[in-house]
Amino acid sequence: MRRKTGATLVLLHRATRITVHTKPCVGILVTLLTFVFCSFLFGHLPILWRMLRKREFMHDLFLQWAEKYGPIVRLNAFHRVSVMILSPEGVKEFLMSPQYPKDRLVYGRIFNLFGERFLGNGLVTVCNHEHWHKQRKIMDPAFSRTYLIGLMETFNEKAEDLMEKLEEKADGKKEFSMLRMMNRVTMDIIAKVAFGLELNALSDDQTPFPHAVTLVLEGMTKTRIPLFQYMPGKQKLVKEVKESLKLLRRVGKECIDRRREAIQNGKEATLDILTQILKGDALEETRDDENILDNFITFFVAGHETTANQLSFTVMALAQHPEILKRLQAEVDDVLGAKRDIGYEDLGKLAYLSQVLKESLRLYPPVPGTVRWMEKEHVINGIRIPANTTLVFSTYIMGRMERYFKDPLTFNPDRFSRDAPKPYYCYFPFSLGPRSCIGQVFAQMEAKVVMAKLLQRFEFQLVPGQSFKLLEAGTFRPLDGVMCKLKPRSPARGCQA
Ligand code: HEM
Repeated sequence: MRRKTGATLVLLHRATRITVHTKPCVGILVTLLTFVFCSFLFGHLPILWRMLRKREFMHDLFLQWAEKYGPIVRLNAFHRVSVMILSPEGVKEFLMSPQYPKDRLVYGRIFNLFGERFLGNGLVTVCNHEHWHKQRKIMDPAFSRTYLIGLMETFNEKAEDLMEKLEEKADGKKEFSMLRMMNRVTMDIIAKVAFGLELNALSDDQTPFPHAVTLVLEGMTKTRIPLFQYMPGKQKLVKEVKESLKLLRRVGKECIDRRREAIQNGKEATLDILTQILKGDALEETRDDENILDNFITFFVAGHETTANQLSFTVMALAQHPEILKRLQAEVDDVLGAKRDIGYEDLGKLAYLSQVLKESLRLYPPVPGTVRWMEKEHVINGIRIPANTTLVFSTYIMGRMERYFKDPLTFNPDRFSRDAPKPYYCYFPFSLGPRSCIGQVFAQMEAKVVMAKLLQRFEFQLVPGQSFKLLEAGTFRPLDGVMCKLKPRSPARGCQA
């Protein structure tokens, strides 16, 4: 890669530091060998593996590199080169066009986990454009405005179940993980509206699904450590991940079989995600039950974990910013008062809540970004990028760069007020272009209903001593689980039955 203009391109070589208490020439030799093996052969991998092993958050290191060296950063792994594109021009060029497919090597890593099929060729991971386009076209009606408005009833019902559970905890003393509660409510919602399943993860502590999903997502992160599945001491985790995958696919199969039987018996199928998945399969020349299950798992996992993380990060940020919380509570009181059933038209009136949720996604995006494959040479920001390169895009990094957001580490929802200039291709928590999130509107309607009820009913406080760090575990989630204490808000605000 050649540098063409003043833009910066960096090739970082950081040999692992070793302290050698021996003759200087041996020390030099060891350092040199370490440099050769760590930097020349493995590229940046040893640094990243070390961070992964120590559970350090490597994206902050990438952010430092981007701030220091500029918006195009090169990463080396063996003979492979990946380039992080952190400029609005690059994001626009590569994400908005269907010409650049998802990178097979990267998404192929989650086709299977430890030899067990995981996301396969589902909608998130499928790389072949034609296959993706067919699936997406069929799924789109399940995310149309009319259909989503019909989901408000379930969003309200399940959010009420959450409020009931929280009331049991709201004595101002009990400590609990908000992330855990949010995970359960979003899981109950997706199971019901996508597949017609009543999981009751909120009320049933014994249900295996939340743990199975956590394990699978942990497995997803661990597959990046080479030979992880063969390491001594890791066998228990590997076995549990495989069993969790089998459980999810088995439940998916039962659910699909039940729905097929109902359709055969002449029952009218609801227009939900499962119906669309089955319709898609019916149009194929050859039936592919494994692909149906890929999509069951894809929607089950992608459709709840992300929203739960967004909600928990938002609670974490609000509890740290009492003045923002107060303004938000005032808006909710103003729009909803003591109303219990939130209507679709109410959501539009909760403008400051939208801003808060957007700002939460800027600093704490549950999905950090996306990856594309570039087959032909390209010049971007004056830098020539050779053909056959992996391109990495990160809303997490761009969202925290000084050049795109003033005072980037400050949580300030006014960045997203109606009069503020819109971020220009430097903010994309749902990705952008044809492969952007199909569930974006669904997720933000759901998040608003849950947050509005929480704000309407409770005062929340964070248990002291939490790190506020992010954990990369398949998605980005709050490391400490957002440990909270709750109290009911003043009784005058009690809700209508
Ligand atoms: C706050 C919540 C959510 C966030 C932050 C989020 C973020 C994203 C991102 C960044 C992508 C692109 C992934 C990539 O390029 O590899 C994506 C894709 C996708 N998401 Fe979401 N998502 C959320 C909620 C949902 C929900 C609720 C559903 C389903 C009900 C969903 C289903 C999907 C699917 C199926 C794709 C693949 C779309 C395609 O390639 O055509 N997501 N999401």
